[in-house]
Amino acid sequence: MAGQIETVMQESRVFAPPEAFMRQATISGMAQYQALCDEAGRDHDGFWSRLAREQVLWHKPFTRGLDDSQAPFYKWFEDGELNVSHNCLDRHLGTPVENKVAIRFEADDGALTEVTYRDLYHQVCRFANGLKALGCRQGDRVIIYMPMSVEGIVAMQACARLGLIHSVVFGGFSAKSLQERIQDAGAAWVICADEQVRGGRHIPLKPAVDEAFTLGGCESVQRVVVYQRTGAAMDMHAGRDITWSQVIDGQPDHCEPQWVGAEHPLFILYTSGSTGKPKGVQHSSAGYILHAMLTMKWTFDIKPEDIFWCTADIGWVTGHTYIAYGPLACGATQIVFEGVPTYPDAGRFWRMIARHKATIFYTAPTAIRALIKACDTVESTHPRHFDLSSLRLLGSVGEPINPEAWMWYYNQVGGARCPIVDTFWQTETGGHMITPLPGATPLVPGSCTLPLPGIAAAIVDEAANDLPNGQGGILVVKKPWPSMIRTIWGDPERFRKSYFPDELKGYYLAGDGAVRNRVTGYFTITGRIDDVLNVSGHRMGTMEIESALVANPLVAEAAVVGRPDDLTGEAIAAFVVLKQARPVGDDARRIANDLRNWVAHEIGPIAKPKDIRFGDNLPKTRSGKIMRRLLRAIARGEAITQDVSTLENPAILDQLKQTL
Ligand code: WT7
Repeated sequence: MAGQIETVMQESRVFAPPEAFMRQATISGMAQYQALCDEAGRDHDGFWSRLAREQVLWHKPFTRGLDDSQAPFYKWFEDGELNVSHNCLDRHLGTPVENKVAIRFEADDGALTEVTYRDLYHQVCRFANGLKALGCRQGDRVIIYMPMSVEGIVAMQACARLGLIHSVVFGGFSAKSLQERIQDAGAAWVICADEQVRGGRHIPLKPAVDEAFTLGGCESVQRVVVYQRTGAAMDMHAGRDITWSQVIDGQPDHCEPQWVGAEHPLFILYTSGSTGKPKGVQHSSAGYILHAMLTMKWTFDIKPEDIFWCTADIGWVTGHTYIAYGPLACGATQIVFEGVPTYPDAGRFWRMIARHKATIFYTAPTAIRALIKACDTVESTHPRHFDLSSLRLLGSVGEPINPEAWMWYYNQVGGARCPIVDTFWQTETGGHMITPLPGATPLVPGSCTLPLPGIAAAIVDEAANDLPNGQGGILVVKKPWPSMIRTIWGDPERFRKSYFPDELKGYYLAGDGAVRNRVTGYFTITGRIDDVLNVSGHRMGTMEIESALVANPLVAEAAVVGRPDDLTGEAIAAFVVLKQARPVGDDARRIANDLRNWVAHEIGPIAKPKDIRFGDNLPKTRSGKIMRRLLRAIARGEAITQDVSTLENPAILDQLKQTL
C-alpha cells in the first residue's frame, strides 16, 4: 500500500476532460465547479436549501435548512414533507418518461425483462397495497433479503411509498447475520426470495430465513413474504409465510404515497465498524434523495438518452443510491443484472455493455482487476472483442483503484475516450463525497481528486488541526451535509463515539486516512485507519471475524489482520490458537479449511480468511495485549523491524511465520 500511494503521489499523467464531453456536461469546466464551491462556502445552508428546493418534489415545502441545535444529530429541511417513492416514480407520470424503460433486467441466463416507468409504478403500488393489507404501518422495519431483481427494487420502493423503513441484507450473508439484523432492527416483516441464481448456480435464500428463526430472537416478525424466483420447493410456515403473488393478488395498481417528514428514516443499512457487531446506519428521506439526485447529475452527468449501469448489489449502499433510488428519481434507463461478471465467461460485462448499449458503467476495482487477469488467460474475453463504443463515462467505487487498473480501464474499456470518476464515499455518507466531475476535473489515475461542492472534506491530525498538502492524516468532513448518516439504529451513543469523537471538535470522522497532493490539492485515500478491512470492496470488521472464529469449539483465541492482495485489494489473515495442540501438516490444512467454512456459515462467504496460521500462542505484551502490528508484518511476509523486547513471548514470531 505504501508503495502504491507513493506512485500515486508522483503520478504525472493528467487527463483533461475531452472537449466533446465538456461541451455537453451538466458541470462544464472547473470555473463552474468552483462557482458552486464558492456558493456553498458563502452560505452552506442556503446552498443546500436552494438545491433541495430545485431537485426534490415536496408535498409540503420546508421553511428551514440545517438544524444543528442537537449536533451531531443534525436535521435538514425538517418541517418539509415528501415521499421518496413519489420522487422516483409519480413525478414521471404524465411526462414522456412514463413510457420510457426504467429497468432492463438481465437474468443470470441472459433472459431480458423490460419495465417502463409506468409498469414500475404499478408494480410498486400493487405490492405496497398488498403490504398495507397485511398490516404494515409507517415506521415498521422490513428486512429485504433478495437477489438482484426487479422485485427487489419494487420491494424497496414499496417500503418507501408506505413510510416503512427497509433494511436490505445482502444475499451473501448467512442465516446468523440475517438473524442479528432482524433482531437489532426489530423487524416486523421479512421479504425474501426462494433462491437466487448466480453463475448458473441456485443458492437458497428462504431456508436461511427459516434458519434465522430457529436461531431465535425473531419474535418481532409477523409475516415473511416470499418471491418465487425459481419456484424451488420450500417449507411454508402456516400463518407466517406468504408468497409475493398472494400479496399482490387482486390489489389495485394505484397507491397513495404516505407523506412523511424530511427526517423520516428511509432505511437502515448494516455495515462493519472497528468494534462489536455491525451497526445499523440510519438515513433520512429528503437529504438522502437530494444527494442521490444531485450526484446522478453532477458525477454521472446523467442525461435522458443515457443507459446507466451500476453493477453493485442492492445489498450494499451503492445499490441503494445508484440503483434503487438515484437513477429512478432522475428518470434514467438502467440495467439491472442478476448474475456475476465471470459467467458464462469473463466477457459478460463487455457483452452486456454492447448488448444494451450502455453509456455509463460503474463498477468496483476488484472486478476490473479480476477481469484483467481473466482475459490474460482467455483472450476471447478481452474487451477489444466487444463493441464498447456506446460508453461515454466510467466509474469506480468501493476501494482505491491502483493506477495500472485505472489505465487499463481507461484504455481497454473506455477506448481512451471516457472520463473515469473514482468516487470516494461510504455507507454513512449516503452518496459520493470526493470525486472528479467528468466535464470539469482533470483526472489523475489513483486519485479521487476533489470534494463535491458543499462537502467540506479536509485532512487533519489527531487534535483536529489542519495539515498542509503533502502530509498524510485523518480524513474528516467539517460541516454536516444533507445525506449524512443520522444515527446508528438503537445506539445514538455509539453513533456519537464512532463519527464525532470529542478530540475532533465536531468534525465527521470518516475512518480513512488520506493525503492531498502538494500542487493540485487532489485527495488520495490511503486506506482505513481503524480495524476495518476492505476485501473486494466489501467492508469487514476484524473483530467480527475474530468473534466468529472464537465461537468455534476448537478455537481458544484468534487475531485477524489485513494484508494487501493483488486481486481483492486486501485479504483476511487469521492467527489462531486452538484449545488442542497446534496442528501441523495435513491436520492443519484440514482444520484451517473447516474454520474457513465455519466463518462462511457464521457471517458469509465474503468473510472467509484467505490465510490461517496456527500458533501455540499470539504475540502479546506483558500486559496481555495482542501486538497486531507484528501480526500485520508477518501476514505481509515482511521482516520484523520493530522492537520486540516488550513481548512476553518473542519466540512465537518464528512459529507464526511458518505458512501452512
Ligand atoms: C469504505 C466505505 C462507497 C460505497 C461502497 C463502499 C473505501 C470507498 C473508495 C474510493 C478509496 C474507497 C473507504 C471507505 N472506499 N470508495 N473511491 N477510493 N477508497 O461503502 O462499504 O461503507 O465502505 O470503502 O475505505 O471508508 P462501504
